[in-house]
Amino acid sequence: MKTIGYAIVGTGYFGAELGRIMSQQEGARIVAVLDPENGETIAKEFGCDLETDLDKLCSREDVDAVIVATPNYLHKEPVLTAARYGKNVFCEKPIALSYADCDEMVTACEKAGVTFMAGHVMNFFRSVRHAKQLISEGRIGKVLYCHSARNGWEEPQPSVSWKKIRSKSGGHLYHHIHELDCIQFIMGPATSVTMIGGNVAHSGPQFGDEDDMIFLALEFGNNTYAICEYGSAFRYPEHYVLIQGTKGAIRIDMCNVGMTLRTEEGEEHFLVHDSQEEDDDRRRIYQDTEMDGAIAYGKPGKKPPMWLHTIMKKEMIYFHGIMNGEKPDAEFIDLLNGRAARAAIATADAATLSLNENRKVHISEVISK
Ligand SMILES: NC(=O)c1ccc[n+]([C@@H]2O[C@H](COP(=O)([O-])OP(=O)(O)OC[C@H]3O[C@@H](n4cnc5c(N)ncnc54)[C@H](O)[C@@H]3O)[C@@H](O)[C@H]2O)c1
Repeated sequence: MKTIGYAIVGTGYFGAELGRIMSQQEGARIVAVLDPENGETIAKEFGCDLETDLDKLCSREDVDAVIVATPNYLHKEPVLTAARYGKNVFCEKPIALSYADCDEMVTACEKAGVTFMAGHVMNFFRSVRHAKQLISEGRIGKVLYCHSARNGWEEPQPSVSWKKIRSKSGGHLYHHIHELDCIQFIMGPATSVTMIGGNVAHSGPQFGDEDDMIFLALEFGNNTYAICEYGSAFRYPEHYVLIQGTKGAIRIDMCNVGMTLRTEEGEEHFLVHDSQEEDDDRRRIYQDTEMDGAIAYGKPGKKPPMWLHTIMKKEMIYFHGIMNGEKPDAEFIDLLNGRAARAAIATADAATLSLNENRKVHISEVISK
């Protein structure tokens, strides 16, 4: 196995841990990092070079792939630079804060003939994979409707993170694109969307400017629908994906942490994550004070919880496999062909337009712009 050289751009909470995980894989080496604030510490930890210039980083001969984990609004430049130098890319979610940028990034990688992998980590949940498998086996019949909620209550913050600023994170919808992506993986890309909501309970200097309550109504063009709720203005926290079919239903509950399959034969219960210990740990995190009203955000120096670490590891192993010449399988191909990236951002953009113009928006309006 040849050694694959990785560079990481953005070594805060997530980028540093992706690097730690990748560095433990056989045949993987972190050769350089770039991060104006946290790069020096992480370069020391990894024993790798600290770069300060993107072109220099991406032109290095020992870099085969660039892992991009900068704040959401800063993904584009490192992705385009990596593509320009013929380097493969793993890019954190949300890929971009506009469809035009997302399309430009994916297209640049396609034209350069390099891999672009979208970091939509929820696809590596054991329960999400299991649900897709049960659906493909016909256990719940035709999927008619999905409902997701990722809701909690945000308390005043001592300092406001970029994650709460609309222009930097995209707000709840883009920053927490996971559920929208998951539902579109299950139901196919939405054809139209209507979004309502706004900032209903969090204004002032101790909060960001994102909308704290949003509801998306998605249509898929064949009498199938979805509703996604997001926000930090909900006193009763909920976090789940519910999939309703003609013969049964699947509920993946990330707050009370368990997966339920309900059919005419009764209920079956499964894990959400890889072990009971991981499910219990996630439940404890939701119930204890570690979450700010069920809204948890990482920051540089913080370590991801056990369940998240496991799926990050699966994601990095998958990407490393692709870098080693493994062929993408049907389950994950959309993470690698730009489809998941484009579909998620196109629908998020259409939802934003819907809210701004108070009307239903067809996704084709965004794509054909
Ligand atoms: N998949 C998931 O579940 C998940 C979870 C957390 C974060 N993320 C994503 O990972 C990315 C990073 O988030 P985070 O939680 O690590 O944020 P963070 O604030 O902890 O880290 C961001 C880092 O980027 C650095 N940075 C800022 N501008 C830069 C630039 N121009 N070039 C290089 N580095 C720069 C900052 O100094 C910081 O160290 C985001 O896109 C976020 O959405 C994904």
